[in-house]
Amino acid sequence: MDYSIESLSLDKLQSACLLVGIYENQLFSPSATLLDAVCNGLLGKLVARGDIKGKNAETLLINNIPHAGIERIILVGFGESGKVGRKQYRKALAAAVKAVKDSKVVTATCALLDIAVENADDQWLARQIVEVFSDSLYQYSATKQCDNPPDLQHLYIFADQPHKQLAETGLQQGLAIARGVELSKQLADLPGNICTPTYLAEQAFILAGQHEKLSCEVLEESDMQALGMGAFLSVSRGSRQPAKLISLSYRGGEGNARPIVLIGKGLTFDAGGISLKPGLGMDEMKYDMCGGSGVLGVLRAASLLNLKLNIVGLIPSSENLPDGDANKPGDILTSMSGKTVEVLNTDAEGRLLLCDTLTYARRFNPEVVIDLATLTGACIVALGRFPSGLFGNDDTLCAELTAAGETACDSVWRMPVWEEYQELLKSNFADLANIGGPDGGSITAACFLSRFAEDFRWAHLDIAGTAWRTGANKGATGRPVPLLSQFLLDRAQV
Ligand code: BES
Ligand code: MN
Ligand code: ZN
Repeated sequence: MDYSIESLSLDKLQSACLLVGIYENQLFSPSATLLDAVCNGLLGKLVARGDIKGKNAETLLINNIPHAGIERIILVGFGESGKVGRKQYRKALAAAVKAVKDSKVVTATCALLDIAVENADDQWLARQIVEVFSDSLYQYSATKQCDNPPDLQHLYIFADQPHKQLAETGLQQGLAIARGVELSKQLADLPGNICTPTYLAEQAFILAGQHEKLSCEVLEESDMQALGMGAFLSVSRGSRQPAKLISLSYRGGEGNARPIVLIGKGLTFDAGGISLKPGLGMDEMKYDMCGGSGVLGVLRAASLLNLKLNIVGLIPSSENLPDGDANKPGDILTSMSGKTVEVLNTDAEGRLLLCDTLTYARRFNPEVVIDLATLTGACIVALGRFPSGLFGNDDTLCAELTAAGETACDSVWRMPVWEEYQELLKSNFADLANIGGPDGGSITAACFLSRFAEDFRWAHLDIAGTAWRTGANKGATGRPVPLLSQFLLDRAQV
């Protein structure tokens, strides 16, 4: 699928399918107004007849156009004019993609940069067009024939001369982020018997090979043993697949600039271990590596954006299975930090990998550390599946992430990491327990991590509710790649 900017004026344009916008109360966008004039008032007639109201995400395909160059028009509804927010714009775009798909055209022209969207400029709009088209046209094909492969091969984004420059920048950003999202989704959707820790490490090497500023190193279990990563290794003892600690380095900044460290939970399958999970829906625990695939996606986007930053990506990867040598409830582990941990539930394994990786992150002298993890079912109970949970020990960093989430339409919601909750992690036999009981499970999980993040500015994203969709439309979302790409773009600008 290719994207490019088209600047030829609408009356001279040749297109198999032209997308233009309409607001509620049947108000036309500037392009729709122009097109209506070129087509002898055809659009006006259809609207007067009530074929489309202009409600958000409504679409109307018009097939027979009295204009030599334009074969089809798709009218796209955006809702009340003056009140189109960023999320509404994306929602309408997704509906537009569906209409384009149904029309089976191979090329289309999107004249939707002239929609007035709150807090958005042409660059943002062009970027979203690429991101939403790419996201909606994604098809899983690794182990199954495509049911309905999309016909669309090329999308032209219409931008007249004064808007061309911003649109071009937005298009390039959109492409980079879309490629990152795509990588994350492809890896996440793979089953656990294909996407093992070893496979993830191979993919990291392949990615590093594709980008000059990116390099990859993988720590094996013996290396982790030498580092004293007793918490991490205890999880992998329950599985026959060797664990890997994937370490990527992107060097786009000054040699001495402190790196942003991203840590992604990479459980390629989480059965719970001896504290075995119930069977229903357990297949979805192949997605327990979405933090890891997210880090790979962000690094791909950062490389394509050629960001002037130094970034380290760390992906602790393992399976969590019930073997004779697996963790048992009551076992006590010594983490790399020296703190001992009582395993009260072997299913709270993500924090055991992450705590040693957080300790490891210290050696990079990080500017900030952000971990992303499908950490707790409790986060879904607390927040549902719209925002990711945001936790952290630094208000500025949390505010930056919140703002980036709003811009990228990949929202987060801040949760407390208070002293009171830390009490719940007390153990009679170790420095801390790996669970805090039934209350506030996503918070006590974050509290656990915070104990290993005392020496740097740190944020934690619980993506349990946002990294994949459950149900009939099951599949990875690629979140939080857009959020973190935006965060890095913002950081690279200052
Ligand atoms: N990977 C799971 C969290 C999870 C569960 C994410 C369901 C998305 C959907 C994590 O390793 C886990 O099992 N957490 C436990 C923690 C509990 C034992 C304190 C959970 O959420 O049940
Ligand atoms: Mn678990
Ligand atoms: Zn897990």
